[in-house]
Amino acid sequence: MTAQPHNGAMNNAAALGAAKHDAATQARDTDPPGRVPGTGSPIPQNTPVLEARSLSKFFGRVIALKDISMCLHQGEVVALLGDNGAGKSTLIKCLSGVHAPDAGTLLLHGVPVRFKEPRDALRHGIATVYQDLAMIPQLGVARNFVLGAEPTKGWGLWRRLDLRAAERTTREGLLRLGIDLRDASESVGTLSGGERQSVAIARALHFGARVLILDEPTSALGVRESERVLQDIDGARQKGVGVILITHNVHHAYPVADIFTILKRGRSYGTFAKDEVTREQVLSMMAGL
Ligand SMILES: Nc1ncnc2c1ncn2[C@@H]1O[C@H](COP(=O)(O)OP(=O)(O)OP(=O)(O)O)[C@@H](O)[C@H]1O
Ligand SMILES: [Mg+2]
Repeated sequence: MTAQPHNGAMNNAAALGAAKHDAATQARDTDPPGRVPGTGSPIPQNTPVLEARSLSKFFGRVIALKDISMCLHQGEVVALLGDNGAGKSTLIKCLSGVHAPDAGTLLLHGVPVRFKEPRDALRHGIATVYQDLAMIPQLGVARNFVLGAEPTKGWGLWRRLDLRAAERTTREGLLRLGIDLRDASESVGTLSGGERQSVAIARALHFGARVLILDEPTSALGVRESERVLQDIDGARQKGVGVILITHNVHHAYPVADIFTILKRGRSYGTFAKDEVTREQVLSMMAGL
């Protein structure tokens, strides 16, 4: 890759690969941007792509989330900020079908939805990149990129992976984010964590994500790698994707995010548009948590 190095880890759950690709590929083919997936009807302007209304989630006596509401519009980056244990990961797990919320409603393009499993969320174009879910390091970048949606050639017993097509798809997907891949057969194990994040983001976009959820994508990255990932986030936003960015780092969140939602011990500490708060104010709210 000629992109700047990265670090972090990609989250393409191999387990999610097939579902994601079937579903997201369909979404990409049949639902042009600006249309409600599945129905094809135009999305009214200003309808959030994804909205959570008064979500609550309890683990036994632990209140992981209480009455959390948030909105995400197309082409918008919402930063989800908060201290350890604030409920950030629980919230995105509720948004991405990992957890069923105990109370509250989730709306997709204004329509209430319930995700039984991550596959359901993926089918609706919600792709989540978890920091701790890596790609398969022994496989090449292209093999990881098309995981679960491998192009094939030949028929019957001779049906096999079309590696050249996989590499072409990968190169195109990465180029769309401005990443020039030197060698798509290069094993993912040789990429830095940040490069893996970029591949994960490009992969999600390529397979039709309308909502991209990133859990601490820069936490393990150096300065240049973080910058590159933040550029990728900006690239996704410019393509009309809604991004939820979880981070502890206000300096990473502030330049790229449009909205800041701050969680504190499972409750909302407030949601602020960027023109309402300075970086210092966000920092001091975080410090006061
Ligand atoms: N599967 C679970 N079972 C029990 N408790 C859980 C579970 N997942 C989260 N919790 C609890 O819910 C609360 C919120 O956790 P969560 O992981 O959402 O926080 P977070 O904001 O993502 O924190 P961090 O910044 O450390 O990742 C914590 O008290 C945590 O211990
Ligand atoms: Mg977390």
